[in-house]
Amino acid sequence: MEKDLFEIIDMSVEGDGIARENDNVYFIDGAIEGEKVTAQIDKQKDNLFWGKIQSIVEPSFRRTTPICPYFEKCGGCKIMHLNSETQKLFKMLSLKRTIKKVTNLDVDVLDTIPSPKDFNYRNTIQLKIQKENDNIQIGFYQAGSHNLVSIDNCLICDEHNKTLIALLKEYISSTGAEIETVFASFFGENLSLLVQTVDGECDKTLYDVLKTRFDNVSLWCSKQYAHSTLLNYKDAKFVCGEKSLTVKFDEISISVTPLDFVQVNFDLANILYKDIVTLVGENKVVLDLYSGLGITSMLFAKNNNYVCSIEQINNSVESAKLLAKENDLQDRIIHYCGDCAIVLPTLEFSQEEKENLVVFLDPPRKGAGTKTLEAIKNLQPSKIIYMSCNPTSLAKDIRDLLDKYEIQSMRAYDMFPQTNSIESLTVLTKKELQ
Ligand SMILES: C[S@@+](CC[C@H](N)C(=O)[O-])C[C@H]1O[C@@H](n2cnc3c(N)ncnc32)[C@H](O)[C@@H]1O
Repeated sequence: MEKDLFEIIDMSVEGDGIARENDNVYFIDGAIEGEKVTAQIDKQKDNLFWGKIQSIVEPSFRRTTPICPYFEKCGGCKIMHLNSETQKLFKMLSLKRTIKKVTNLDVDVLDTIPSPKDFNYRNTIQLKIQKENDNIQIGFYQAGSHNLVSIDNCLICDEHNKTLIALLKEYISSTGAEIETVFASFFGENLSLLVQTVDGECDKTLYDVLKTRFDNVSLWCSKQYAHSTLLNYKDAKFVCGEKSLTVKFDEISISVTPLDFVQVNFDLANILYKDIVTLVGENKVVLDLYSGLGITSMLFAKNNNYVCSIEQINNSVESAKLLAKENDLQDRIIHYCGDCAIVLPTLEFSQEEKENLVVFLDPPRKGAGTKTLEAIKNLQPSKIIYMSCNPTSLAKDIRDLLDKYEIQSMRAYDMFPQTNSIESLTVLTKKELQ
């Protein structure tokens, strides 16, 4: 269906322009609040319609020209057509709206903290690979589909992604290797790479090819399950090179394999971690939940706190222990390996420890969930600092805490410029007894 003119009156949290006509609501990909556009509508459910912008009749002053040649097709950088200032405003408002929708609270969300870099900020990339005869395509699945958008370079990723794509093409065309997905992390001139193949095996000659352009390579391999975009940790095995890479993060060195979670934008994460350390303060007992490689645990301990950290990936816990030891902080941090929902309810604290307790949590996209939140509430920390990469799960978890806690502050951090993903930090404090 084609319609002539849409007046865009709002933006959805997904980054679409919203138009209304009678009871109908239209979500127009590529349109900006304040614009008049024409669009092609290609999906409908009841009174909701989705479509793509065709032409701009009246442009917004907030519009900029996307510099990526794949912008139209890829969909990963959903808001690259918003100027830099508007992207930050969009993230602040999206966070506010999501919290309002789920909790009915009007929160004064603080101004978004910008990323030091708007491009080339990502140190990780996930690439899908398809082969038809001699034609090797490497790139991303188009948003919401399994159609591959072939790329030579991703502008938001570390510029070494271009080298990796070229090397993978060279290797696949000369060996006929059947690689389906690669998860790569770039740390300076070093590369950490997990390749997923149908049989879960990988030829060591890939390592030789990669070593022609990267100083150090950590090559791992695992089995690809049909069309899955998830990293398969379960079957992953080390193939060749360095088992883990030593990576500089600010002033510290961390040990990283492709199985460990690392923040994708180190420069922004550095700012965020400093804010978290200030919010936690000194002389506290800190519960660091979903602690990954233990960077925050180490920073809290360094700032005169005692820390209990919980992380479920064994490899990450071992690296975290090493980090604590290297910084001579092993006596201040207790590391637990396991699921927070199971480990947390088993922890016991003295009355004095409970009085000094602060909880910091940074769960995966799906949020913390009821069991973990109940366990946190039972411990009655004076403060909960919640770092989130998903406003919807954040809002649901906050709703579950509101009987005992209130929001003190909330802020978005632009961890993922050009995309509609929103990183945020929320501080909740215990309600005074009435
Ligand atoms: C968003 S990352 C946060 C990592 C860390 N805070 C950082 O900044 O590097 C989430 C971490 O939680 C871990 N994780 C996921 N589900 C978990 C669970 N149920 N219990 C414990 N850890 C979990 C993941 O392995 C990952 O390391």
